[in-house]
Amino acid sequence: MAMQSPTERDAWSGKLGFVLAAAGSAIGLGNIWRFPYMAGEGGGGAFVFIYLVCVLTIGVPVLFAELSIGRATERNPIGAFKKLAPGSWWPALGALGVFTGFAILAFYAVIAGWTVGYFWMALTGTFGPDVDAAASGEIFTSFIGTAGPAVGLTGFFLIVTALVVRRGISGGIERAAKILMPVLLGVLFLLLIRALTLPGAGAGLEYLLRPDLSEVTPTVVVLALGQALFSMSLGMGAMITYGSYFPKKDSLPFAGTAVALADMGIALLAGLVIFPALFSAGLDPSGGPGLVFVVLPTVFAQMPFGGFFATLFFASLAIAALTSTISLMEVVVAYLVDDREWPRKKAATMVAIGCFVLAVPSALSQGANPYLSTFLGETWLDIQNIIWGNYGLSIGAILICLFVGFRWGTDKMLDFVELGGNPLPGRGLFGFMVKFVCPLAIGVVLAFIIVTGQYF
Ligand code: PHE
Repeated sequence: MAMQSPTERDAWSGKLGFVLAAAGSAIGLGNIWRFPYMAGEGGGGAFVFIYLVCVLTIGVPVLFAELSIGRATERNPIGAFKKLAPGSWWPALGALGVFTGFAILAFYAVIAGWTVGYFWMALTGTFGPDVDAAASGEIFTSFIGTAGPAVGLTGFFLIVTALVVRRGISGGIERAAKILMPVLLGVLFLLLIRALTLPGAGAGLEYLLRPDLSEVTPTVVVLALGQALFSMSLGMGAMITYGSYFPKKDSLPFAGTAVALADMGIALLAGLVIFPALFSAGLDPSGGPGLVFVVLPTVFAQMPFGGFFATLFFASLAIAALTSTISLMEVVVAYLVDDREWPRKKAATMVAIGCFVLAVPSALSQGANPYLSTFLGETWLDIQNIIWGNYGLSIGAILICLFVGFRWGTDKMLDFVELGGNPLPGRGLFGFMVKFVCPLAIGVVLAFIIVTGQYF
């Protein structure tokens, strides 16, 4: 093994390490918790169909735009724009990305903490056969509304995340992804077999996979595009950062496509687990954000070996969340390491502490503190999602496209995507999408959420 000089930057050991880590970033609560309830609110198949269209036409071009910026500069988002557009305002876009990552981590970790609590409750038999919808709702409300566990588990999740991030790219993030991603896939497949063999599972499949295009409304399109951005970790430079550790010789067209397909595949897989189970139990799919926390335990309660499958399910949710919180933290840490020359271990520790402080109000906003629970008519956590998840990511994604399209140039982007002699099929089309179609489409969605106040 070659010795690393102190100035040499850490990198993925190869393509596989990148694919698993970047897929780990993309695959998260967004796929297993958010995607199913969005699909339930957006009419099932209609939402799924539009979501797939959004991933392929908008998500994939933006993904390659971000990855190429990272690959060209080998920097975090702020350092990347400093390198490509020195003396301009563009580094502020990098700063928006880094801060968005920090702020998303501060509410994402709260929900990730719930998954750990639910894993524990499932393991210790909280969801027995007598847990009906009302009881399950009460368990959820009282669990997320109790300050101790809500804050404690958020802190726990941030500590675990920092323990991985401080070990670096190949030795920490990649190693964790190489263990966690196969486990996640294995667990979801087990759950799939269980779900598909339940009586009446077919109705759930039909709901999810047969698009009724008369259900496609502007709201569905907005939800689907927003879901595509969030789920692919786009708009804040996570993929700039992960792309910055990509080996020069490996094929980025291959690796990027694999990440997009994995993200889409796991969302569908989660849907194929959840909807057959819901329909088999005769439950309503439009349960909103409580779907997997409130509705699923009642499904598990009625199922043979339900406690076992519930434990597996919430473990998979926690694993998926962890590989995503790692990427959110890495964006901030990469900035502190690259540009501020902080030691990585110190950076990870400080980011975890800072993030925890910012996360406490979100953790307390689900009932524990009445003021934070009804702040401006929403919970503090929901407001964070609106500001950073909706506005932060969509503004970030639009500006990244405009930067590539009009400042850096789509030819440069595509050269760095193809670096190492790996052609990107449909090269010209990608340039056109990044320059015109993506910013316009995301801009329309942004205008829609501003005007209607309906968020994704
Ligand atoms: N993509 C992650 C998920 O689906 C969330 C995320 C968003 C991670 C933005 C990093 C950046 O859960």
